[in-house]
Amino acid sequence: MEDSSMYHPSEEIKNEANVKEYEKLYKYSIENREKFWEEQAEELEWFKKWDKVLDDNNKPFYKWFVGAKTNIIHNAIDRHLKTATRNKLAVIWEGENGDLRTFSYHALDREVSKMANVLKSMGVKKGDIVTIYMPQIPEQIFAMLACAKIGAAHSVVYGGFSAEALLERIRDAQSRVVVTADGGFRRGKPTPLKSIINEAIEMCSVVDVVITVKRTGEEVFMRNDRDYWYHDLVNLPIASPKCETEVMNSDDMLFLLYTSGSTGKPKGLVHTHGGYSVYTSTTHRMVFDVKPYDRWWCAADPGWITGHSYIVYAPLINGSTMFMYEGAPNHPYPDRWWKMVEKYGITILYTSPTAVRGLMRYGESWVNRHDISSLRLLGSVGEPINPEAWKWYYRVVGKEKCPIMDTWWQTETGGLMLTPLPITPLKPGSATRPFFGNEFAVVDENAQEVKSGEKGSLVIKNPWPGMAVTIHNDEDRFVETYWKKYEKQGWYHPGDAARKDEDGYYWIIGRTDDVIKVSGYRLGTAEIESALVSFDDIAEAAAIALPHELKGNAIHVYAILKAGLSGSRELEVKVKNHVAEVMGPIAKPESVTFVDKLPKTRSGKIMRRVLKARALGEDEGDLSTLEE
Ligand code: WT7
Repeated sequence: MEDSSMYHPSEEIKNEANVKEYEKLYKYSIENREKFWEEQAEELEWFKKWDKVLDDNNKPFYKWFVGAKTNIIHNAIDRHLKTATRNKLAVIWEGENGDLRTFSYHALDREVSKMANVLKSMGVKKGDIVTIYMPQIPEQIFAMLACAKIGAAHSVVYGGFSAEALLERIRDAQSRVVVTADGGFRRGKPTPLKSIINEAIEMCSVVDVVITVKRTGEEVFMRNDRDYWYHDLVNLPIASPKCETEVMNSDDMLFLLYTSGSTGKPKGLVHTHGGYSVYTSTTHRMVFDVKPYDRWWCAADPGWITGHSYIVYAPLINGSTMFMYEGAPNHPYPDRWWKMVEKYGITILYTSPTAVRGLMRYGESWVNRHDISSLRLLGSVGEPINPEAWKWYYRVVGKEKCPIMDTWWQTETGGLMLTPLPITPLKPGSATRPFFGNEFAVVDENAQEVKSGEKGSLVIKNPWPGMAVTIHNDEDRFVETYWKKYEKQGWYHPGDAARKDEDGYYWIIGRTDDVIKVSGYRLGTAEIESALVSFDDIAEAAAIALPHELKGNAIHVYAILKAGLSGSRELEVKVKNHVAEVMGPIAKPESVTFVDKLPKTRSGKIMRRVLKARALGEDEGDLSTLEE
């Protein structure tokens, strides 16, 4: 799997990089972790500085910048209004239909303030959680920033999720107010976001206000006592373009973001104002090497952590100009992305292996139609990038002059954890080495480091400012999931298998728990299985991941039908559609196989690894616990 070839950055890149040397600064950051992070925190403005950099008295509930007063919006917007950045473009947005909207920092401040005042007028207060369910339009970002500004937390639910998934998240967050849109455009078609919201809140009594932004102009159902058009509200005198930024404690909740785990219930990970500001902006500045002249494009959805950290917060804190695109990469033609790179002069592009593979499939002539020489740096995130895709990205998109930052991190970590810097010699498929302040290891079940080149569990040995502080409503699960396994050592356990080579480079293999990565999206087998058994004809089911050329992994399902029923092609299609409906289109299974029995342990747990080994024709391994 490993590719031994090394790709060295040019002298030009090395000379211009924001960080010119790794080893010395890394050593310093490990030996003086708190001092290192304090120095990074000094780059930002604070209403009041910290009494203590790190409070580790109540592990694993670490607190960063204790006693400090801040608000991420002060650093992302307010402080820029006092400098020339005020008139710089903050956001360039292109709709799938070609609409173009731009906002300077000055204009962004006005839009965010208006939305903040609208939220306030609906009774949103400091500490409330607002659910945001939107397409990729500027108002999605305004809504997030508006919440933060008034001290409310946001819970962004990805626009591809179904009514049920949405409902579960609204309930857990107890969101009284939801911000949405009538829809967005995807491959030329409007997506029915508002009707999904309507369906979801039909089933619960938590929500009493829905604010809807008009995007597609499609007809939607609005209930008089609950639904408001944003364009009506924003024209009222209450929606003044001036709004005070709320003073927050460093460890007050900025947002919660749900992600899949090994059990059925999604986890609402909590991130805070202080530590998260410092961690995301530092990694963005050092790894992505942002300069005042850059045009930064993180082609993720703001609905995922990548979007929260590197579309919204880090670029704004660093005063960058960011680009955001609404729709599909191949609409109307497979050169859409490259056309936009050329048109807007994008200098840094951060995307996922699955997007690279998708565009690679159309061939390089689509890329070569455009002058994309403005690009100087590339990035990858979400799953391991296969060397073939890496090399295509490097050669065809980067023209062999743009280093690729393959960044390993998670919703839980808040920001980049294993990553190269522009000066780092690269190996295709390796996320290289730890970011400053972080110590990693690959260990066995007994917390012993495995030999170099051997497979083991990835662990992080230290706290860092971007780390999630807990799971909303479930502290025990936070401890159980991430800290229990290496409790004695006090290590964080991300749930990934990895190898470390002789050069100290890390190679991520994949998840060790029941989490499946499909096109970089994280799905729990338990969630898929519970969607399956909610289908009338199915008695029991198991979901596994098998390699897929484009998606990285695809979901394959084994289902036992209720007595007396037999499987058919037709039923297979119905089951697939059912899962897509319950969980959202990303969870649609690749195949459904009807079986009489599932391999189980004597205690009744489904042995997914046995199903997987059989499907791949591999050795089934230790079967001693398999029930006869
Ligand atoms: C899981 C976290 C971080 C934003 C997007 C994903 C996998 C992530 C890489 C990478 C290999 C990667 C891991 C991780 N992953 N980046 N560069 N190389 N694997 O966030 O949805 O929380 O998923 O994604 O398995 O645990 P997420």
